[in-house]
Amino acid sequence: MLNRMCNSDPVTTQAELGNASNEPYYGSSSPHADSDSTSHPARYASAQSEGLNFATHVKDHSVQMLRVQGGRPLGGRVRISGSKNAGLPALAASLLTDESVTLHRVPALNDIRFMVRILEDLGCEISFKAGEAHIRAREIDGDPFPECVRQMRASVCLLGPLVARMKRVSMPLPGGCVIGQRPIDLHLRGLKALGCEISIQNGLVSASAGHLKGTTLSMGGPFGSTVTGTVNIICAATLAQGTTVIRDAAREPEVADLCRMLNKMGAKIGGIGESTLTIEGVERLHGVSHELIPDRIEFGTFLLLALASRSKLELPKVDPSLCGALVDVLAANGAEFEETSDFFVVHGNRSNLRPMCLETLPFPGLPTDLQAPLCALLTQIFGESSIKENIYPNRFTHIGELQRMGANISTDGPQAIIRGATQLSGTSVIIPDLRAGACLYLAALIAKGESLIYGVHHVDRGYENFDEKLKQIGAVLQREEVVRENGCKEI
Ligand code: EPU
Repeated sequence: MLNRMCNSDPVTTQAELGNASNEPYYGSSSPHADSDSTSHPARYASAQSEGLNFATHVKDHSVQMLRVQGGRPLGGRVRISGSKNAGLPALAASLLTDESVTLHRVPALNDIRFMVRILEDLGCEISFKAGEAHIRAREIDGDPFPECVRQMRASVCLLGPLVARMKRVSMPLPGGCVIGQRPIDLHLRGLKALGCEISIQNGLVSASAGHLKGTTLSMGGPFGSTVTGTVNIICAATLAQGTTVIRDAAREPEVADLCRMLNKMGAKIGGIGESTLTIEGVERLHGVSHELIPDRIEFGTFLLLALASRSKLELPKVDPSLCGALVDVLAANGAEFEETSDFFVVHGNRSNLRPMCLETLPFPGLPTDLQAPLCALLTQIFGESSIKENIYPNRFTHIGELQRMGANISTDGPQAIIRGATQLSGTSVIIPDLRAGACLYLAALIAKGESLIYGVHHVDRGYENFDEKLKQIGAVLQREEVVRENGCKEI
């Protein structure tokens, strides 16, 4: 029961990928058969007795399928939601104070609901409605609920805030996932440098520290600086004794947004947005009201949709630096954009795109989270394009499904080579992870004929009201409950 309700992610994904026949995955009544819901019976029992019902927090769409009629003309205005990857660390950082934290523009996404659920279970008073989250971590106790932690890798963002506030934390070690190995050695190295004792046993990582002490450390790794690792160390350092200097800090806008929020709470963080951050520890942080930045990956996804579908879309104007690399490279290769006082207009219908040779890089480079939707666009451009994935060299789970729709794509190590233009054809596809999901939505919308997309719950983790937003610009699609071969509805 608990397993089903916590359903949203990578465990299901493995099951889907494990489907060697490549037939659509129809879900199962127990998609998380390898999760151990009985490992913390006391906590589970207490959650039940308190009437905490995950279903009220996490929308389970794991057994839904999307039917898309491709090739329909699109056009109009799209609203861009608040950033998931800014919201998750901001929610975790609310643990750093016993005063009230209000976050605005919080997207209603399953990953956000998981984080809210974890905070609630730790003892926070929370309300989350209409894009506003009010959190008060007046008294917190215990460890993050393992069932939820296992469902969402971003729960690793709790390590830094909890060790700073509680002086200890113990939680399941996040595993790898379909986009590749995702170790946390850099997070742990940073926490150790601040004075934490770390132990790993039976799949649990535990960190404790009498006093965190400022020091100089690096968050750089073989694939660039770690984003959530930087977030963890920033949070821990705000309440450490003395000054911490973080070299090779991730410069992603979501990290900068967190720093601005923490400074409003009384933290003393210098160098925001740069690769060296200086954090002077303070005794305590206080409450804050903070608006999250817009989701640059959602913005980029709609921008790519406009170009791939040769539509004109009007997106709200965002800080140009958020999507600078994407806009620059597309403009240099024939995309037409126009900025009005309020809107960023993508003239997909006028653009004459040339093939491109791209690579993903840490910010301010081209984001890895747009690599999959970019592949969908590149299938529509005459000539040979390539895209090298430098952050997660195996993040190509979408390629097999694109090939099944007729795309001419091959991979060579961490590089995808795309030969276009190809008329994609609608078929049944399976979404293996969130950004691959965005790619397959785009592909289905530009394909000839009908596509059936399975695994839409992955998209619900990261794109707020995606189906509705698409319908508003003319897409013809609908979700359906998956019906098993025996005619029974999956519930
Ligand atoms: N890495 C290590 N050791 C570590 C941490 C990371 O080797 O201790 C490696 C990773 O394996 C990867 C690279 O460093 O090859 C970058 O990983 P990073 O830690 O920066 O990723 P993350 O913090 O876990 C965040 C986003 C991801 C996004 C990446 C890269 C959140 C919640 N997640 O993940 O977003 O792809 O940064 O920009 O902020 C998504 O939204 O779909 C998503 C996956």
